[in-house]
Amino acid sequence: MIRIVSPLHMQSHALEMRRQGLKVGFVPTMGALHQGHMSLVKIARKLCDTVVVSVFVNPIQFGPKEDYSSYPRNQEGDMAICEAEGVDVFFAPTADEMYPRDYSVHVVEDRMSMGLCGAFRPGHFRGVLTVVAKLFNIVQPHVAVFGQKDAQQARLVKRMARDLNFPIEIAVAPTCREADGLAMSSRNAYLSEAERRVAPGLYAALKRVEEAFRRGERSAAILRKVALENLAEVREFRVEYLEIVDDETLESVETVSRPALVAAAVYLGRTRLIDNIVLEP
Ligand code: PAF
Repeated sequence: MIRIVSPLHMQSHALEMRRQGLKVGFVPTMGALHQGHMSLVKIARKLCDTVVVSVFVNPIQFGPKEDYSSYPRNQEGDMAICEAEGVDVFFAPTADEMYPRDYSVHVVEDRMSMGLCGAFRPGHFRGVLTVVAKLFNIVQPHVAVFGQKDAQQARLVKRMARDLNFPIEIAVAPTCREADGLAMSSRNAYLSEAERRVAPGLYAALKRVEEAFRRGERSAAILRKVALENLAEVREFRVEYLEIVDDETLESVETVSRPALVAAAVYLGRTRLIDNIVLEP
């Protein structure tokens, strides 16, 4: 595995790999890597000849009151995990190189980014899409892999690739879960022991929705009520949102007659957890 820091070096290396006829797979991350990230790497490896993982804690996708400075960083550990997984290139640029001081161009999506997490994290998806577009231009991948856990992000990246004509296949990998159902996330490291014990209640509530759906319930209002009642059973949760939206457009639905995304964000103490399931009629 080689480690590259400079975006320019990464870009020329990527162009050389393409010139050699290699199919380039890409997994963008913010580090603090875990098994969930490695499941994305495994998919990239299956689909491509060579795999690039980027580790960059992107300052412009964090709000002023969010956890940019405390976000877990462990580059040595991340490199060891990538090396063991057979990653070919570990790309870890600095914020100064990614964003020159007079940087002034951004990617803005103005429909699908408005709801769900976007409604509570103003500017977040502008930051995400901007850095992903930059990374796509630097890494020049044929395939990029994103996790279903960040469903809105994955849908937005697909939309960006379509609308801005990036010749890149966007693959979405299933959410990796701990044995008790908690979706894997770098932010789980923030949870206290007591919080960690109740955290699986988020997925458990989503599973109750799925059960009601399987029994034939199609009303989004009723399915939403099932979720909220179950979330309310965990006193420690502060629900930020629980929405049922069309899985492709992210517009809210009244009746689930097409694949629908049930997405939620809850606070457990100061930690924000997100999770989702897809209902397939
Ligand atoms: O999902 C993440 O880790 C980040 O949002 C991403 C896609 C690496 C962009 O910074």
